[in-house]
Amino acid sequence: MSTALVILAAGKGTRMESDLPKVLHKIAGAPMLVHAMMAGATLEPEHTVIVAGHGAEAVSAAARAHDEHVSVVLQTEQLGTAHAVAQTRDALEGFDGDVIVLFGDTPFISPDTLARMSEARKNHDVVVLGFTARDPGRYGRLVTEGDNLLRIVEFKEASAQEKAITLCNSGVMAVARDVLFELIDAVGNDNVAREYYLTDIVGIARARGLSATAVTCDEAETLGVNSRTDLAAAEATFQARMRAEALAAGITLQAPETVYFAYDTVIGRDSEIEPNVVFGPGVTVESGATIRAFSHLEGCHVSEGAIVGPYARLRPGAELGAYVHVGNFVEVKNAILHEGVKANHLTYIGDAEIGEKTNVGAGTITCNYDGVFKHRTVIGARAFIGSSTMLVAPVTIGDGAMTGSGSVITEDVPAGALAIGRGKQVNKPGLARKLFEMLRARKARQAETDK
Ligand code: UD1
Ligand code: MG
Repeated sequence: MSTALVILAAGKGTRMESDLPKVLHKIAGAPMLVHAMMAGATLEPEHTVIVAGHGAEAVSAAARAHDEHVSVVLQTEQLGTAHAVAQTRDALEGFDGDVIVLFGDTPFISPDTLARMSEARKNHDVVVLGFTARDPGRYGRLVTEGDNLLRIVEFKEASAQEKAITLCNSGVMAVARDVLFELIDAVGNDNVAREYYLTDIVGIARARGLSATAVTCDEAETLGVNSRTDLAAAEATFQARMRAEALAAGITLQAPETVYFAYDTVIGRDSEIEPNVVFGPGVTVESGATIRAFSHLEGCHVSEGAIVGPYARLRPGAELGAYVHVGNFVEVKNAILHEGVKANHLTYIGDAEIGEKTNVGAGTITCNYDGVFKHRTVIGARAFIGSSTMLVAPVTIGDGAMTGSGSVITEDVPAGALAIGRGKQVNKPGLARKLFEMLRARKARQAETDK
């Protein structure tokens, strides 16, 4: 059975107190909407349609950045979840299969749960995902009879008896496309909120002799985000899951609760992650690498056996070859460090390529930015960059070359050459002693006058 994914994301999310549309708030480095898209993608949908409203332009851009094939439809007025789904009618014209409705602010539905919903669709016309809530709060309630779902009652409409039901509506539904739109056509807004409730389609389906059922999942999956507090809780849940997965995959985490992953972090077996490491999006760490404490990595690739940190920062485009060492207070951006390069202390390497086994001395800086343009630094293999060298890009250092400590290198250095670019040293015999005497005498005079 082919599926189409509809993700509702038009709501404002008032309780977020934000200028950013709710679904663009991030969890583990990816907007909630993208998490929902990733969850739905496991069904290999034929179409993905996102219903945008508040901040539609930004929502659309974020959705397309993740998957250029999505369609985005506009719901200019938020008249309710049924009205939102109705906006996808044209986009799904001619599609013949199941529509799965997800909410953009419910990012953690698991692939297994979605698969079970698809399975349940074989025996029922409408399948709703429910969960038993510890605190049912304002969720819609599922009224069931055995395996059958009779109707969904919104909290605002529920009687005291219905409010006592703990089986709640997650919002996720699976219905065949043509059935879905027929049912939605029959939804009215004669209710407390004057909204078109998608949840009403269950009762309507039953009245028409169609069948409905609820598939259930763990509450953690249906976690909806409505406030910054919910967002923080969702982040914590996601991080806990990522840490458990990392440990199970053979990665050592000395203090798992202090390591923060991004949604797409990839780490090889037998890597070791020390405490307080943060992974931004787009990081791959290969087997047997060590990321030492207090390092921050994003958009980078760390090869096997490399050692990063403590206190290192790898920014987008950092490519570390095998057995590279990047030490404390070293920042690498858009730079390839080939096998065995060492840059162990207090260094900035940006827009650069460094050949294998080159040693970069403490305090070295690639001066890549002239205030307007960025320029590249290319360093050959087995070179030795003296401490505190300023490499004023564009500049090329040949294989096996050396730079003297404290040099400002503005011209290319041929292979095998030693470049020294600094003021020549002058020694003034005895002058330090004289200066000290003079200064100490001045201090003594001051102490006298201050008495
Ligand atoms: C909805 C369900 C409720 C369920 C709960 C789970 C309905 C009527 N109620 O209530 O049964 O327990 O979710 O979290 O469906 N949206 C639009 N356009 C609209 C209205 C909403 O795109 O006109 C989107 C929102 O952006 C959001 C989602 O639909 O992503 C759910 O809307 P929301 O207003 O949060 O519904 P709830 O009141 O939480
Ligand atoms: Mg909600």
